[in-house]
Amino acid sequence: MDFGIILAGGRGKRMKAQRPKPLFEVLGIPMLEWVIRSCEAAQAGQLCIVKGYCGEQIDAYLNGRYPTVLQAEQRGTGHAVMQAADFLKQDREGCTLVLCGDAPFLDADTIRKARELHTAQHNAVTVITACLPVPTGYGRIVREGDALAGIVEEKDADETQKRITEINSGAYWFRTGDLLDVLDSLSCDNAAGEYYLTDTVALLLQKGLRAGAYLTEHADVVMGANSQRDLLALNDHARMREIGRHLDNGVIFDCTDGVILSPDVTIGAGTRILPGTILRGKTVIGEGCTVGPNTLLENCTVEDGASLNYVQAYQSLIEKNVRIGPFVHIRPNSRIRQGVRIGDFVEIKNSDIGEGTAIAHLTYVGDSDVGRKVNFGCGTVTVNYDGIMKSRCEIGDHAFIGCNTNLIAPVKLGKYAYTAAGTTVTRDIPEYSLAIDRGAMTVKEGYSLRKFAGKLDFNKSTSIRNEKKK
Ligand code: UD1
Ligand code: CA
Repeated sequence: MDFGIILAGGRGKRMKAQRPKPLFEVLGIPMLEWVIRSCEAAQAGQLCIVKGYCGEQIDAYLNGRYPTVLQAEQRGTGHAVMQAADFLKQDREGCTLVLCGDAPFLDADTIRKARELHTAQHNAVTVITACLPVPTGYGRIVREGDALAGIVEEKDADETQKRITEINSGAYWFRTGDLLDVLDSLSCDNAAGEYYLTDTVALLLQKGLRAGAYLTEHADVVMGANSQRDLLALNDHARMREIGRHLDNGVIFDCTDGVILSPDVTIGAGTRILPGTILRGKTVIGEGCTVGPNTLLENCTVEDGASLNYVQAYQSLIEKNVRIGPFVHIRPNSRIRQGVRIGDFVEIKNSDIGEGTAIAHLTYVGDSDVGRKVNFGCGTVTVNYDGIMKSRCEIGDHAFIGCNTNLIAPVKLGKYAYTAAGTTVTRDIPEYSLAIDRGAMTVKEGYSLRKFAGKLDFNKSTSIRNEKKK
């Protein structure tokens, strides 16, 4: 049986945060999750995650998905793997993949190919390496002739070794039994005073075993983050890589400023993505849409031909040819059906909006089922919460809701029902009926003349405010 050990216990000092480094996000996905996904896609073996610094945050994130072991003190990558020794002792015969939780781009293909080389060469350890023009910060691969001789950390390297451009990705395949045999021999006699996992290479070679390197052609797969600067570099890199993938699929970008697309996003050909668009989670956008500027969608499906301008939408379905925005908030569990138009300062929550309905401005629609071709006047509010319970509104096809209508839920409007502007609807309105709820308007003539009697000269154009200052 094979195992995969992901190291996520380190203090991550240079991040200057009370959070395990592997939980920092690249394109909205924790680095740890990127690494887990690569292991899963490569079917690398049974996973175990080493937690340490702020380990409870790792537990909270994983929520029992994978077993973890605790590294109570952060004494280096070798010490981290020692904590997983009991897990590995379940089967000494297979192989163990060790990965760093702070290097999110190591992909399934690289893991698989390294595993093949590891087996073919009968290696005790196979290190995944890359050649970087600027190798600063990484452990250097020391070779004698072609053969691997060891790994030297930057802190411990002399000037000649620092010039080596082949670096350690921090990912390795070990024969499990051989790894277990040398773990106890690691020492912390080095510049950092830590147990380096990298020293296992020299130890295995000393035992007369074989050590190999899988040199990847795609140097970016080894990129890791030790600081906030590095994390930004990873985000920039991933961001442009994702945009590149969509460009190849025929998606149009005039300018990519502020565009952040999660790797799980799908976008149809001919769709235009404008600046400030952030698409998160498993968002799916159809063909021929316009999204942005300044639009954030999370786990939404947007069908062909829709246009979203300054919109935030979450966990919702937006059907064909819908036009939304600017300044619209679509909260979870909403369905906006074909041809709907939603204008500025509208909020929709947990509602189904029927085909061709118009909600042009300043309206809240929550917990409602709205029919086809309904017209919402400006300032309509569904009053769905009485402080204890949420209730639903049902609005029939072709209903016409006057401006500033309050719909006190639960309430039902039949088809072609009308409400007069300013009406507060407290009971159901039958189909084809008008509800009107207003006090009779009275006009008190000469009111302000009496109110300001003697204080103002209404023939001069002085304002009341100026008069008061005097
Ligand atoms: C490590 C390698 C270096 C390699 C680089 C690749 C060692 C000694 N060095 O250096 O050769 O080029 O990765 O990115 O292995 N961790 C723990 N417990 C600890 C210390 C670290 O779990 O006590 C975890 C960290 O959370 C991190 C990973 O191990 O996910 C790597 O640790 P880090 O301190 O970043 O190692 P580097 O200095 O980058
Ligand atoms: Ca690192």
